[in-house]
Amino acid sequence: MKKIVILISGRGSNMEAILRACAADRWPARIVAVISNRPDAAGLPVARQHGVATEVVDHRAYDGRAAFDAALADAIDAHAPDLVVLAGFMRVLTDGFVTRYSGRLINIHPSLLPSFAGLDTHRRALEAGVRWHGATVHFVSPTVDGGRIIAQCAVPVHPDDSPATLGERVLAAEHALYPRVVRGYVDDQIKLVDDDLLLAPQLWPSLACV
Ligand code: GAR
Repeated sequence: MKKIVILISGRGSNMEAILRACAADRWPARIVAVISNRPDAAGLPVARQHGVATEVVDHRAYDGRAAFDAALADAIDAHAPDLVVLAGFMRVLTDGFVTRYSGRLINIHPSLLPSFAGLDTHRRALEAGVRWHGATVHFVSPTVDGGRIIAQCAVPVHPDDSPATLGERVLAAEHALYPRVVRGYVDDQIKLVDDDLLLAPQLWPSLACV
């Protein structure tokens, strides 16, 4: 039974998609904790409704990124997880933290990386005039939004899209994509070995979706 810790900062809709899939499809895995850097994160009560323990490591209580990341790592390591899932966790993590969890730390980003790393991706995609936008799940590396890409889902950009309508379409794609990736990791079908991505061939079609 694999143990998973999910980190959130806000709404937690990706977290909920993973919790639902884990329960519905009886994954050989358990979400052992949801940890937020914000005490008011809307996803915290949602996690508790799903019977998952929640914790807060408030970044404002720490003097600098290194101290916060050390406290966060202590909270995570208390659960000895096999996988740490960033689901709308909006803090840049130190190199030391990222290296500590290398190969077992994944993130979802609301764009087709390497396009539109960083914030405000839907507005920037519209301004750039791209016809396709989407979501990416990747292993986390010290370069922000730069780790090995595991899976991507593309959505069309409509002529009348606003950042909000485009964002809704991308979020729906995220909810389809992220649980698939976490399940693949749980089943040992996704691995990072010496910075190379190893994927089970039967997983390939489901990791590139439209
Ligand atoms: C999601 O769109 C996720 O891709 C994005 O934050 C949102 C969180 O929504 N993450 C990032 O921008 C990370 N750089 P959620 O809290 O409802 O899952």
